[in-house]
Amino acid sequence: MNRKIILDCDPGHDDAFAILLAGQKRYFDLLLITTESGNQTVEKTTQNAINLVEFLKIDVPITMGENHPLVRDKILCPEIHGESGLDGFEFPKYSRKCDSTNGVQAMIETLLTNDKVTVVTTGAMTNLALAIKNCPDILNHIEEIIFMGGSTSDGNITPAAEFNILCDPDASNIVLSCGRPIRMIGLNITRRVLVTKDVISRISEINNKASKMFVDLMTVFNANQAKTFGLLEGGPLHDPVTIASMIDDNLITWKEMNVSVELSKGPLYAKTYCKNKKSHNCYVAVDIDVNRFWDIIEEGVRYYFE
Ligand code: BDR
Ligand code: CA
Repeated sequence: MNRKIILDCDPGHDDAFAILLAGQKRYFDLLLITTESGNQTVEKTTQNAINLVEFLKIDVPITMGENHPLVRDKILCPEIHGESGLDGFEFPKYSRKCDSTNGVQAMIETLLTNDKVTVVTTGAMTNLALAIKNCPDILNHIEEIIFMGGSTSDGNITPAAEFNILCDPDASNIVLSCGRPIRMIGLNITRRVLVTKDVISRISEINNKASKMFVDLMTVFNANQAKTFGLLEGGPLHDPVTIASMIDDNLITWKEMNVSVELSKGPLYAKTYCKNKKSHNCYVAVDIDVNRFWDIIEEGVRYYFE
């Protein structure tokens, strides 16, 4: 049976390819996409989610979630993702709007009417934390939570903090202590899947509409990663590792750890502490089969054959 997924995201160049992988009906029953602020404002990330699913013809409801973190001030990431949040590819103009239900409410309703749902987050965890706080009963309907965020080593926005966790550290701690099985895919893994020149030429050879989108988006993404982070080899395609880990159970090596987030506003603010304690709350990704990951991306791009 296909796994049921809710994808909570902030597209975002790398989120775009988490959506592309999750839209494959041969593997998943994608129940809902919820959006929030992060890479750009929630209005922009929602428009980007709409553009992506319309372009790829993925049949899924889209609802707009939170535009503000629970406690801290909002941060955005235009230096990587541009003014639109998804600079580099011109989508046709679509008339579709997002559904009228608020994203947090939609997440709650979708969970309460389904069982064994995997909730995947590739942005801040504000929507999921609010859903848990407003309706703890949803936990009985969640099979597991898989998130891209944090790191077992250093961060990308500060020496200690990774962007998604830094966007809403308080929400991350609520999710991490919710008691359901959680899988964390952090920078220690996603920095190994770099969109190199070889990757771009391999995907461009597919020559379908999804491959053209990949090449155009990744050209801008890589230029911004080089300018901002000095990553000259290629940018890390963080978010789709979450979905890829469900397509192939052997893609990732996991280690049980205790993960918590630093909330005090010093230099370690938003750091994910990953400790080898008996009281673990998380399976942390510690290794990845990089070649297999790119096979999964290629197969995903080929799936949208037009
Ligand atoms: C994360 O931050 C965002 O900019 C990316 O989309 C990814 O989810 C990486 O730190
Ligand atoms: Ca993201």
